[in-house]
Amino acid sequence: MGFLYRKLVRRLLFNFNPELVHDAVIKGASAAQNIRFVNSLVGLMARAKDLPLTVAGMKLRNPIGLAAGFDKNCEAARFLAGLGFGFLELGTVTLRPQPGNPKPRLFRLRDDKAIINRMGFNNAGAWDAARSLERLLPLPVPVGISIGKNADCSMENAPGNYLEALKIMYPFGDYFAVNISSPNTLQLRSLHGGEKLRRLVEPMMDFAAGQKRVRPFFVKIAPDLEASELEAASALAVRMGFGLIATNTTVSRASVPERWKTYEGGLSGRPLRELSNEMLSRAAGLVKGRVPLIGSGGVFDGATALEKFKLGADLVQVYSGLVYEGPFLVKEILEYLDRRRWQPRHNTLCIKQN
Ligand SMILES: Cc1cc2nc3c(=O)[nH]c(=O)nc-3n(C[C@H](O)[C@H](O)[C@H](O)COP(=O)(O)O)c2cc1C
Repeated sequence: MGFLYRKLVRRLLFNFNPELVHDAVIKGASAAQNIRFVNSLVGLMARAKDLPLTVAGMKLRNPIGLAAGFDKNCEAARFLAGLGFGFLELGTVTLRPQPGNPKPRLFRLRDDKAIINRMGFNNAGAWDAARSLERLLPLPVPVGISIGKNADCSMENAPGNYLEALKIMYPFGDYFAVNISSPNTLQLRSLHGGEKLRRLVEPMMDFAAGQKRVRPFFVKIAPDLEASELEAASALAVRMGFGLIATNTTVSRASVPERWKTYEGGLSGRPLRELSNEMLSRAAGLVKGRVPLIGSGGVFDGATALEKFKLGADLVQVYSGLVYEGPFLVKEILEYLDRRRWQPRHNTLCIKQN
């Protein structure tokens, strides 16, 4: 099936504007998920053997998740779950709706199997996302919700902006991802600093600790960090008990052809893989299994997923891989892992919960 996507569907879709295609896919998926027959058929075609595991207290049918940014308004979660994912990360959601950056802002680097995006957290805001999820719950897989900062909110007011969005989204998430690593929101990445990060995450985790169900947190980090920034973020993760997602997109253009070097935004896909893996492996060396790690960046098949597990990831996410390899990617990855007799680590890591 993946072969058909690559030979026919991808060829067709890649003739159109990338953002137009993406929006049409999300709209189509959100309509299709209400038709039981379509949902069942997709589920039947995309499902593979389960590889169950528990991470951060969440029971997952397999360790392959959808990365944030694909379903920014949490509109198509039921359809996406049908593609076989073990979990979905939805968003990034901001407190208030915002249009994002001017178009064009999404570019395919076909020959490099890469994407450059400078979307800038375009989304309909937390209330809208919460309403969508309310309609869709219960979902067959755990859902993470990625939270980011409104572009017009100052860095000083960032903690309050994230916290208010969290409060709205809290009833709908099985975990929360604090996105401090998008290169498309001015100064966002400066939140990686130890003390700034503590001031951001602490109120969110305190809020969660006061709720009936205490949900785990992950902080999504950039692949372009200095050693000292990664050390600070990892030390804080261990001290406060949140996991890390390594990594978001890169601002580096070292591994793309000349013509793309001037395009602003975050680069994902194949050219990100090495940088992202290096960050994952360094983070694993620093947290030493004391908090869970999610690997994201350049996963296109079973082998590139397996290499992340070997480097220390407990879970792996895909985004660009889905665009280039198609909707049966999860199945292909799981079949590869099964052929290699790979076994997920069971229950070894669980963030403290009530
Ligand atoms: C078009 C696009 C939009 C994205 N939007 C977000 C986002 O809103 N929040 C986020 O945390 N990551 C976002 N990402 C980053 C992905 O979640 C992922 O971490 C990154 O693309 C690396 O994985 P990949 O190489 O599999 O694409 C986005 C990526 C792309 C390509």
